[in-house]
Amino acid sequence: MSDTLDRVALLDKIERYYSDKIRRHGITAQGVDWKDSQSHRLRHQQFLRLIDNDNHSSVADLGCGYGDLLDFLRNLGHTGAYTGYDLSEDMLTAARTIHRGDSAAHWYLSPTPTAKADYVIASGIFNVKGEMPSPIWHEYVLDTLSAMARCAERGFAFNSLTLHSDAEKRRSDLYYADPAWFLDYCATRYSRHVAVLQDYGLYEFTLLVRVS
Ligand SMILES: C[S@@+](CC[C@H](N)C(=O)[O-])C[C@H]1O[C@@H](n2cnc3c(N)ncnc32)[C@H](O)[C@@H]1O
Repeated sequence: MSDTLDRVALLDKIERYYSDKIRRHGITAQGVDWKDSQSHRLRHQQFLRLIDNDNHSSVADLGCGYGDLLDFLRNLGHTGAYTGYDLSEDMLTAARTIHRGDSAAHWYLSPTPTAKADYVIASGIFNVKGEMPSPIWHEYVLDTLSAMARCAERGFAFNSLTLHSDAEKRRSDLYYADPAWFLDYCATRYSRHVAVLQDYGLYEFTLLVRVS
């Protein structure tokens, strides 16, 4: 981590941003800063290509929010261990309350995954950079991917807003990534078994990396 990235201050800002969202909007798509439940679900669906119907696989969800991905997976028959990590205690309190009956689900306050899992997923954690300059946020994204890759036994995946969006509609507080650059970066650094999905109708892409 370079000196230019004050990680503690950065994580503190992210935490405050998302805690405010759930305090205002509660357990809704807006409570995790998504526009609506339809797009929320559409994002979850992209990760199914990585998990590939392996209902017994273990899943780590970095930036789990209140654990909506867990409900989505359980409804599809997933029974494996699920670990949710988040920066926001408010998110985790909601997640623990909603999923208290799920003995295979565990929740931790952490900015990175701390234990191995078959699949490590991050949905929505790279979008809001606030006032952080893009190059510094980019460095933070790469550090976070590295932490995800270290814990991923079979694969990891994340989504990001795409640079293939209308330039005039972009916001200065959001981070837009170049999917081709990230595809090449992940293929070179982690595994050649990579896929970019950018065909699901949102201004973003999902990148999947299969490591075994
Ligand atoms: C856009 S919300 C999405 C929540 C969840 N992934 C979903 O789709 O329902 C992003 C969540 O990630 C959390 N978050 C952001 N950066 C994080 C990080 N580095 N480590 C852990 N949690 C993070 C935020 O607190 C927030 O709950």
